Parts: sequence; structure tokens; C-alpha cells
Amino acid sequence: MILKDVILENYRNYLNLEIELDNNINLFIGENAQGKTNFIEAVHYLATGRTFRSNKDLEIINWEKNYFRIKGKLIKKNLNREFLLDIYYDRQGNKKVKINGVKYKKISDLFGYLQVVIFSPDDLNIIKGSPAERRKYIDLEICQLISTYYNTLSTYNKVLQQRNNLLKEIRDNNQKIDILEVWDEQLVKYGSIIIKNRIEFLSKVVPLARRNQDEITNGKEKLDITYNSSIISTPTVEIRTIEKNFIDKIKQNKNNEIKKAITLFGPHRDDIIFYIEGKDLKTFGSQGQQRTAILSLKMAELNLFYYNNEEYPLLLLDDVMSELDDYRREFLMKVIRNNNIQTLITGANAELLDINIENKEVFNVVNGTIKGSRRF
Ligand SMILES: Nc1ncnc2c1ncn2[C@@H]1O[C@H](COP(=O)(O)OP(=O)(O)O)[C@@H](O)[C@H]1O
Ligand SMILES: [Mg+2]
Repeated sequence: MILKDVILENYRNYLNLEIELDNNINLFIGENAQGKTNFIEAVHYLATGRTFRSNKDLEIINWEKNYFRIKGKLIKKNLNREFLLDIYYDRQGNKKVKINGVKYKKISDLFGYLQVVIFSPDDLNIIKGSPAERRKYIDLEICQLISTYYNTLSTYNKVLQQRNNLLKEIRDNNQKIDILEVWDEQLVKYGSIIIKNRIEFLSKVVPLARRNQDEITNGKEKLDITYNSSIISTPTVEIRTIEKNFIDKIKQNKNNEIKKAITLFGPHRDDIIFYIEGKDLKTFGSQGQQRTAILSLKMAELNLFYYNNEEYPLLLLDDVMSELDDYRREFLMKVIRNNNIQTLITGANAELLDINIENKEVFNVVNGTIKGSRRF
């Protein structure tokens, strides 16, 4: 797919931006704090309806203004169709999504149009950060792949909240224990779908990531990524098995859950573990090894999206080129080049211009403007 035109209004430091992107490589060069990441963030927002930096949409609106708007023209080659995406958000909290002029109620309706794989320095937190960050990562990827997943997630979170409230009421007032089962059923129903989808996602992406890792490290550092579940010890995508384990877990721990007034088991407690040569990468890996594993994983996502949609997603590389050594950088460029993946790359200086690729367009980012596109 190709993102052709992007228009930003009052998006962080961009008051009025109109830009036409190249189908291949787009380099965004600029000093610090000029708006490079802001632009990448806006494109990512157009794909996912959220910012990858914080969770507050209000922070995105330009300080002097009352709303922001992002528009993009997307060309899906496999469908031979164009889509006009339009997102609006204002200080009153109104969020509006239009696709080809038609209004949609939910921001999640955006999923499935523009698809992106983003790679930024913050992604090291997928390995180094808390389990919550890894869950957030995997959930967002699955949202982009499976149209119903977002609703499953938000229903699960509501059920979880209600169930926790109920557990507290049972503990404090010793009543309503008879309706706990109703919430248990809902928890198990939606939670099991989440677990199944996460395991399925990993079962597809991990072999691809391992292959990349083998190529990058010359077979010296074997990568593995496993799903560590509070519900099942052996990964399975058999939904009945997951549900059965889930119900058993809840039954066995009922008294403990009431005592603590919290739901102790479910996908909200699960984690993903990265291993290199069988050793936990979070604990034992060097920063370089962690970065390589993330690179292998992100490149694997490109393939997975391709298998799913017969089209590559947009690749967003924010400030990562300077952190990769020549060999890794060349590996990355080879993937982009061989598959004609539309890519946006940001960086501080012209070291990026050495990138060994013919079709590229260079943009200069200065204080909320993007100018001077030159073709090399
Ligand atoms: N809501 C906002 N309104 C106006 N400017 C903003 C807003 N949010 C961030 N900025 C500005 O954006 C700049 C940072 O842009 P960023 O894209 O992160 O820089 P970089 O080019 O280093 O990636 C800072 O100067 C910051 O003050
Ligand atoms: Mg930046």
C-alpha cells in the first residue's frame, strides 16, 4: 500500500502541512525538536487511531489551537482502490473518523486501512519494559491484523473492571456472590479469545523473526519468543482448552480472589518472554542484542502483514538508523529494497543519505515545516 498525500492541521508543531510522499524511501532530515517524530507519530495515528508516545490525545493538539486533524490519501494496490482517511479531535473530546467521506463512530474502525510497522528507539522497551508494555505491543499488532480484536479487548477490560468491583463488594459486604459466575463466564469468554489470538500471532511471527535473526547474526544467536500465560502452561490455539483451563483456574482461586478483591488470572496478567540461545534476553542480553532481536521481530511483522493482506504495510523508522551498525542497516535496506516497501526514515543528519538505494526523496524538517523535497 502507498500513502500518497498527508495533510496535518494543528498537529503538535505542524499548523498546516501538506506533503506528497514518495512511493519508495522518504528521508526526513532535521535537527532535534523540529518535528520529525511528530510527523511519524501522525502517520502512525492515521493507521491505529492512537499515538505511540503517550495516551493523551489532548497533548497532540497544538498548544494555541482547539483541534487537530490528520488526513491521508491511501492507495491499496491489491484492491486497486483509493481511500481518504480523515481524523479530527478537539479539546471538547470529540473524535471523528471519516473514510471516503463516510463518518464512523469508533476510532477502531480505522484498523484495516493503513497498516504500519514502526521501529523507534523506544521499542527497546518491548524487551526491557514491563509486561504491560509487551501486552500493549502485541495487542496493537493484532488489532491491525484482526478487525474484531479491538472490540474483544475493550469488552474484556470492561468485564475485568466490573468483576474486580464485584469481588470487592463480595469481600466487604458479603453479598452478591451468586452473580460472580455471570462475570466469570464473560471473563473466560473474551479472555480466551485474547489468549488464542496472541498465541496465534506469535506462532506466525516467531519463525519469521528467527529466520531474520539467523541471517543477521550468522546463525550465532538463536532467538525464541514465547507466550507466558497465567492460564495455560503449554501454548495452544484450541479455544475450548484455553476456556477449560481458565474456568478451572478461577474456581480453584475463588477465595483468594475475593480476599484480594482482584482478578488474578487472565490475559491481563500474561507476558511474552524473549530468549537468545535459551537465556532470558531482558535479564542477560546486551543492549545490542536486544536491539537486534527487535529488528528481527519488526522485519518479521512486515512479512506477516504481507501474508495476511498480500500487501506490505508502511514502514516507519524513527531515529533508528544511526543506532544500527553497517551490517544491520544493510540488512534492513535489503528487505526494503527487495520488496519495494514504502518507508519513512528520520534522522539528524545526512549520514542517512549514504543509504544505498536509488529511489529516495529527501525532506528537510524545520520547526514544524517540511520542505525542499529533492529527488536523488
Ligand atoms: N501540542 C504541541 N503543540 C505545539 N508544539 C508541540 C506540541 N507537542 C510537541 N510540540 C513540539 O514539538 C517539538 C518536538 O518535535 P519532535 O517531532 O519530537 O522532534 P524531533 O524532530 O527531534 O523528532 C518540540 O519542540 C515540542 O515543543
Ligand atoms: Mg524524534
